[in-house]
Amino acid sequence: MTDENQGNLGTDIIRFHRIITRGLEITIQNVNRFLEIGALKEEKREGFIKYVQSFSTVLDAHHIHENEKIFPYFKDKLPDAPYDQLMAQHKGINVLLTQINGGINNLKSNVDELKSLDLLKTSLEKIDRIWQIHMKTEEEKIFERVGSLNISLEETNRLRAEFSEFFGEHAKPAYLIVPFMLYNLSPKDRVVIAQGFPEIITKQLVNADWKDEWAPMQPFLII
Ligand SMILES: [Fe+2]
Ligand SMILES: [Fe+2]
Repeated sequence: MTDENQGNLGTDIIRFHRIITRGLEITIQNVNRFLEIGALKEEKREGFIKYVQSFSTVLDAHHIHENEKIFPYFKDKLPDAPYDQLMAQHKGINVLLTQINGGINNLKSNVDELKSLDLLKTSLEKIDRIWQIHMKTEEEKIFERVGSLNISLEETNRLRAEFSEFFGEHAKPAYLIVPFMLYNLSPKDRVVIAQGFPEIITKQLVNADWKDEWAPMQPFLII
């Protein structure tokens, strides 16, 4: 059995949900601010586009991860969770993410700025309404129950390696996604999640080699 300090796969995923919840909240807050002033502030343009793009990628990759790896693993162990309903919600969110990606592309090419911000607002608020219920259902029916399954530490670590490799393949580029994940978490959660990355990433790449790429996102992150 995994002990308290090491947590388990369920607490890993609940922590991951916090990244998405904050990303969604910050994105909505900023879209509303830009709409109020009637423009995407020039000094925040690059960072905001990178932040929304990272949010969209992380949420999409999380759903692929749940559909293809996480749900199949827990289905037999926790059969009472509404897996089909959860996957249908992923599909609904996916349609909205496609709209968001269209809005991001327009912002990147300076086309229809206000219309694109409006589209982002509508799609993000729809995602928010689904997400709040969706995340709670997953946590109550699956992830908060993982501790009672007595999965060995060896098995947990094997799955952690497999899960992070799978997620990494679907969430690119790492130079935006890794800082987005680390700095949308509280310092306490960040320390835990950083332990799952190779040292070269946390010590060298994030702070030096990748810094110019992700630094514009700083106004939206917990730094
Ligand atoms: Fe989900
Ligand atoms: Fe989830």
